[in-house]
Amino acid sequence: MDQIESLLKEKRVFKANRDFTKNANWNRKQIAEYRKLGAKSPERFWAKMARNDVSWFTPWKKTLQWKPPFAKWFVGGKLNVSYNCLDRHLEGENAWRRNKAAIVWEGEPGDTRVLTFGELHREVCRFANVLKESGVRKGDRVALYMPMIPELAIALLACARIGAPHSVVFGGFSAEALRDRINDAGAKLVVTADGGFRRGEPHALKPAVDEALEGCPDIERVIVVKRTGQATAMKSGRDLWWHDAVQNASAKCAPARLDSEHPLFILYTSGTTGKPKGILHTTGGYLTHVTTTAKAIFDLKDSDTYWCTADIGWITGHSYVVYGILANGATTLMYEGTPTHPGPDRFWDIIERWGVTVFYTAPTAIRTFVRLGDEHPKGHDLSSLRLLGTVGEPINPEAWMWYHRVIGGRRCPIVDTWWQTETGGIMITPLPAGVDTKPGSATLPFPGVHADVWSEDGQPVKPPNGGFLVIEKPWPGMLRGIWGDPKRFRETYWSKYRETYLAGDGAHRDSDRYFWIMGRIDDVMNISGHRIGTMEVESAIVAHAKVAESAVVGRPDELTGTAIVAFVTPKGGVAAGDGLAQELRAHVAKQIGPIAKPADIRFTDALPKTRSGKIMRRLLRDIAAGKEEVGDTTTLEDYSVLTRLRESQET
Ligand code: WT7
Repeated sequence: MDQIESLLKEKRVFKANRDFTKNANWNRKQIAEYRKLGAKSPERFWAKMARNDVSWFTPWKKTLQWKPPFAKWFVGGKLNVSYNCLDRHLEGENAWRRNKAAIVWEGEPGDTRVLTFGELHREVCRFANVLKESGVRKGDRVALYMPMIPELAIALLACARIGAPHSVVFGGFSAEALRDRINDAGAKLVVTADGGFRRGEPHALKPAVDEALEGCPDIERVIVVKRTGQATAMKSGRDLWWHDAVQNASAKCAPARLDSEHPLFILYTSGTTGKPKGILHTTGGYLTHVTTTAKAIFDLKDSDTYWCTADIGWITGHSYVVYGILANGATTLMYEGTPTHPGPDRFWDIIERWGVTVFYTAPTAIRTFVRLGDEHPKGHDLSSLRLLGTVGEPINPEAWMWYHRVIGGRRCPIVDTWWQTETGGIMITPLPAGVDTKPGSATLPFPGVHADVWSEDGQPVKPPNGGFLVIEKPWPGMLRGIWGDPKRFRETYWSKYRETYLAGDGAHRDSDRYFWIMGRIDDVMNISGHRIGTMEVESAIVAHAKVAESAVVGRPDELTGTAIVAFVTPKGGVAAGDGLAQELRAHVAKQIGPIAKPADIRFTDALPKTRSGKIMRRLLRDIAAGKEEVGDTTTLEDYSVLTRLRESQET
């Protein structure tokens, strides 16, 4: 039994939206044409996109050079990402965008800032000049450890302008994590802030930088944005305030003419071992991938106000808060703080006040909102919304339906987008004008993307069976390697199957060939010889009316190999206990089958999550197995959850 069994059966289908079939950036005819071209020749498809959607200083000579597992796209081409995001919107027929909002920013305390394309261009040039004056040269790495403020986007674009690869370290990481990442990338300069606002309080960042830098001998300069105004120690000769540095900097800086394969950024992501992987992305292919996907999937128009709630510290923020959105000349909204401050309706308030039209968020956030209650979104006018998206994890059909009904008012298409830090941009996704959606499915590969589901021995599995999600052909946004570790790059992604990318997710395709992502393959349990995705059981449990959130893990069991343990957070006002546990077991048995019934159900008021909102299953596995000592907890958001979980009653 090498195929992962998928037992969930979702029957609902939502037709591609009529309003979109007429006016979408990609209409039905184009989608059909691009699918055909992408299937026959991904190179020709992507070359067409690179010509349509990206501006080049010098055209490329060869579309793809593929020496597995190393790809080069648009070889010989020269371009600049910041030119594509800024300058080209100030020239020729686009010149009217000069005074159009590029970034609409809202701080957590409610302060706001709007930067037009013209202003953003000047700020980026100024900061690019500051970087140059600080000794940063083409190819030097710059670490960014900042809150969600406009200066973070400015710093990104300034690095891109001079060809200095950035390495953004999420502001929620510790000093130790920052130090490791600075040293691994060999960064020369750090940009940070005194702090940012979280849950109504200033949250300091600079002390963590000072602590990290005790172990980073190569850092000669730190540039600090004054955001919160809290007392901040500055080391003379090393630390500079951003506002002082830019004050006398010129607002003109020519964009560097960079090779298509010039490194654009490194972004660290966790793997199965402890050491994070520095995922490397380059210039021409990445920009083509994110620009084309943003245009087609989010249907970006000049009239849109687009909001992706991800932090720029993650790949979603790089690709779809900054690069892919600004390259399209669209307005991107950035919000600094927590979704529930000062009240549970903050997101809906932002959407109403700014007239957000396209909204992209994570299933974990959606489930939180389901739990908080419908009255919060219902208290706001959300009629400006026309398109919704999700990313980051499989969305359970019930959360999808809630998003569709309560946020989308049953009129907005939902794009459930599957991709990874490694893929650079979206890979599997609906297209609003041309793909019918099914709650919980990311649907079909983007044109030009050759994704499939393979068995252990490298054979495509027949729908509806499950297996390993693979990408069979190179794509432009693909990672070019793991920084400083080509061996790990080969081993992690290219050793299971030759010349085929292993995504690390389990998936299955249904009879319409739609993809259903079942989560990481290390989260797959083997129960009495049957493999079951933890996600499927979770999805079933969460579909129960009395459940807000759930996480399912396996624990060793003498009889069945693995037994299923479900951690469950009931909805507010619901009494946890034996009665509910029995109800849930019966419910799971009905939804999936008796084999998927959890052996243990443990009720808890909160689940352990990383700061990015991912449930830490590793910790839950340890707790489920009754271990006294749990593994590494450095990325855990709230430590007290652990104690409460250990005490959680077992039924
Ligand atoms: C992993 C990548 C790239 C966006 C943020 C996460 C899971 C992502 C989906 C989706 C089901 C999804 C996968 C993937 N994932 N999007 N729409 N449906 N699963 O980036 O941290 O690199 O994580 O997130 O497991 O491998 P990341």
